Amino acid sequence: MVLVVDFGAQYAQLIARRVREARVYSEIVPHTMPVAEMLARNPKAIVLSGGPSSVYEPGAPNVDAAVFEAGVPVFGMCYGFQAMALNLGGEVRRTGRSEYGRTPVTVSAPGTLLAEVPAEHKVWMSHGDSVVAAPPGWDVLASTASTPVAAFENLELKMAGVQWHPEVMHTEHGQAVLEHFLHHIAGCRPTWTMVNIVEEQVARIRDQIGDRRAICGLSGGVDSAVAAALVQRAIGDRLTCVFVDHGLLRKGEAEQVERDFVAATGVSLHVVDAQKRFLDALSGVSDPEAKRKIIGREFIRVFEAAEAEIVGDAAAHGEKVQFLVQGTLYPDVVESGGGAGTSNIKSHHNVGGLPEDLEFELVEPLRTLFKDEVRLVGEQLGLPAEIVWRHPFPGPGLGIRIIGEVTHDRLEILREADAIAREELTRAGLDRDIWQFPVVLLADVRSVGVQGDGRTYGHPVVLRPVTSEDAMTADWARLPYDVLETISTRITNEVREVNRVTVDITSKPPGTIEWE
Ligand code: XMP
Repeated sequence: MVLVVDFGAQYAQLIARRVREARVYSEIVPHTMPVAEMLARNPKAIVLSGGPSSVYEPGAPNVDAAVFEAGVPVFGMCYGFQAMALNLGGEVRRTGRSEYGRTPVTVSAPGTLLAEVPAEHKVWMSHGDSVVAAPPGWDVLASTASTPVAAFENLELKMAGVQWHPEVMHTEHGQAVLEHFLHHIAGCRPTWTMVNIVEEQVARIRDQIGDRRAICGLSGGVDSAVAAALVQRAIGDRLTCVFVDHGLLRKGEAEQVERDFVAATGVSLHVVDAQKRFLDALSGVSDPEAKRKIIGREFIRVFEAAEAEIVGDAAAHGEKVQFLVQGTLYPDVVESGGGAGTSNIKSHHNVGGLPEDLEFELVEPLRTLFKDEVRLVGEQLGLPAEIVWRHPFPGPGLGIRIIGEVTHDRLEILREADAIAREELTRAGLDRDIWQFPVVLLADVRSVGVQGDGRTYGHPVVLRPVTSEDAMTADWARLPYDVLETISTRITNEVREVNRVTVDITSKPPGTIEWE
């Protein structure tokens, strides 16, 4: 395992992902963790990430020199590189020549770290101060116009560093450099593969659950599906999945869960058809937050009723459902401040007459995984591609993509328009280039059109294709005109109530991805 020490910048998660892409398992730890605690985890290497732009910046975190004395291989990037130089007897100076963004670098002596990397290439930099002298006895490998020492290594100590950010997309050969460190300098073996993840998780789940029972809520999305499939593989039909069909999913999605997911996994599925209940509860409501609240509240009630039924059934057979499976991912764990092991949650139980103190223990088999790894695990488990590669979809579903009151007929209109847009995106081979592709029905707007010989008053729909890395920021996707044209023509021809198709070209911020 490789530890990625987070100095507070945005890069630690990306570095941890890149390390795993090199097939070496990695975990993120805060820079405030005492070195002894890091070493207690027995890391095969430690990566010091980027952080503030200078080791001299006021409030810059201290790097404990003990990290360099433990006999563990260390790789420093950007801030980590400067900290390494400073602690090991090199020199960092305020040269007043900062480098930000794409910067040409010259490899003077490739050594092991930069082996086979072109002598001239471009890397991504973000620093104020520069290393002007490497620690004594270290090999200087590269420089830039402003930085005499931009990369160094010491093969005896199994340490190396680069001033740039090898983890970002804009750095050429970044992954190769990281792999040279991990595989050839630190001696980490590339054993982190999807097959191993599945085997390891299955063993872990068996350990945790033993011969007891678990339940899992399926949302139709990839995380809950993969979590459920892993637990199913571990404990078979002692897992019961609950799928609440609230009628706000897109065309075909409920069927994909009820039919294709079950066929692929053999999971035992408890379906609750709650479509009417949700529509009744949403009747007359057009305020977005009110819709969200109603959908959330109804969902919990329906889920808990199903839960109570399953717990009751098991109890009738003298068994206890003790575990709740959740699709929590590693970024959620890191962002909520880490935390190891499993936690207990108290189930809400305002319906179903469950005992007051009913508690489930959580099973979170994806807690150590990034989203892209979850998809690969899903593929490994043989889940349908439509589920594994599904775009993120909000919990309140189409309920917040109908601007105005949610009705049965409006849902039908949106479902058809949305299905056409998704179909054409897939046909154009663009699914994986797009983060999300909401289609929004402006149900309270009537636009005039001419279809056939007469005027029509229909509704506009808005196409909202976006690119994003994490949904925090997003840009509108530049879909090819011919794809947009086909979508527009098909929607206006095939969905009678829609006579106008528009495209949203707002980034986030200032817009959000969803319209409500
Ligand atoms: P916005 O619209 O805020 O969305 O840019 C960011 C991401 O969150 C999703 N989203 C939601 N997900 N419940 C959810 O589970 C919600 O109420 C909700 N609202 C937005 C949205 O689809 C995007 O991925």
